[in-house]
Amino acid sequence: MRTPHFIYDLKLLEMTLSELNTQIKQTKFKVHYAVKANSNKELLKMIEKFGLGADCVSGQEIRWALDAGFGATEIVYAGVGKTDEEITFAIKNKIGVIHCEGLQELIAINEIAILLGESVDVALRLNPNIDALTHAKITTGLSENKFGFSEMELEELILTKDKYKNINITGLHFHIGSQINEMKVFETLCNKIKDYLIYFEDNIGQLKYLNVGGGLGIDYYNPDENKIPDFKSYFDVFKSKLKEQDINVHFELGRSIVGQCGYLKTKVLYIKSTQTKQFAIVDAGMTELLRPALYNAYHKIDFEGISFIENQKQYDIVGPICESSDCLGVNVLLPELRRGDTLIIKSCGAYAESMRLNYNGRKKIESTYI
Ligand code: LLP
Repeated sequence: MRTPHFIYDLKLLEMTLSELNTQIKQTKFKVHYAVKANSNKELLKMIEKFGLGADCVSGQEIRWALDAGFGATEIVYAGVGKTDEEITFAIKNKIGVIHCEGLQELIAINEIAILLGESVDVALRLNPNIDALTHAKITTGLSENKFGFSEMELEELILTKDKYKNINITGLHFHIGSQINEMKVFETLCNKIKDYLIYFEDNIGQLKYLNVGGGLGIDYYNPDENKIPDFKSYFDVFKSKLKEQDINVHFELGRSIVGQCGYLKTKVLYIKSTQTKQFAIVDAGMTELLRPALYNAYHKIDFEGISFIENQKQYDIVGPICESSDCLGVNVLLPELRRGDTLIIKSCGAYAESMRLNYNGRKKIESTYI
């Protein structure tokens, strides 16, 4: 198999999904997989088989989900900048629910629904102004972020709600960020949600469901020891905090489902030494794994083959792209590398293949499944 390529461990994905289903058994919880984390068809097909729904953020993601076998009513459509064409496509395909992020969008959905003669279920995404204690670039629930209805917009909606005749407001939606490892963040979210529920039922009406978004993090530092995320602790927060609410709760997990089941295999092209650094130039780059360049994200990098611990050296693992930020790992301790050696970059199941770029004329790479 040529390098670079993605390797997906479908057995691990299966184990992860089965643990997730164990934790939500006999609850009113439903998980919609966040397709943006990885839209690879083999993964989507397996996720669908385990009974999850799909959370899509574009017309194309909806097409991929339908194509992989998700029923239309099992799909939710979110996104801060939906086009009229995408809204039309979602309504025509009878997608379960549209998650609406602002008042102008609500007006647009209503107008399109009138034109199509349809009535549309909509959940309102609210911005609860909570710090997710994660990387600033993947924080979404602060008032300075572009996502969701602000309190001002919500008040305006309440005053004008009778105008939107072709919309049924059936749910409330929150998503405060990604790669969240502090369970207390989700506790804070639940506390805020309880207040919103009271406010909502007083001002708009009864809700069918609540969507608490995604965001559960994975262990990028010890991927082999923690292959399956701690779903128990995560769901326990919602079980205990929302037990009096007796409401259907939806989740939109992405990274925690697929993150650890993907690897990026790459080959060392050249070794280069400077006064201060030893570089291993590899054939994968920021075009296949953008996370380190975009968020200074850490991914564990392992040598494939027999490693001689006593001969370890420190390398910056860099890609072939014409950008200094094209660095996949800094000061990585590895056995002495030679041209042609292969490296395995861990935890590449989420936000690697789906964030692929074709900058520098890079082509889509192949995937293998184990
Ligand atoms: N729901 C909504 C509305 C979202 O915006 C996201 C992720 C999810 C669910 C899924 O979140 P997860 O469970 O995967 O954390 N590219 C970044 C992550 C961006 C996440 C965007 N939204 C990264 O590589 O870390």
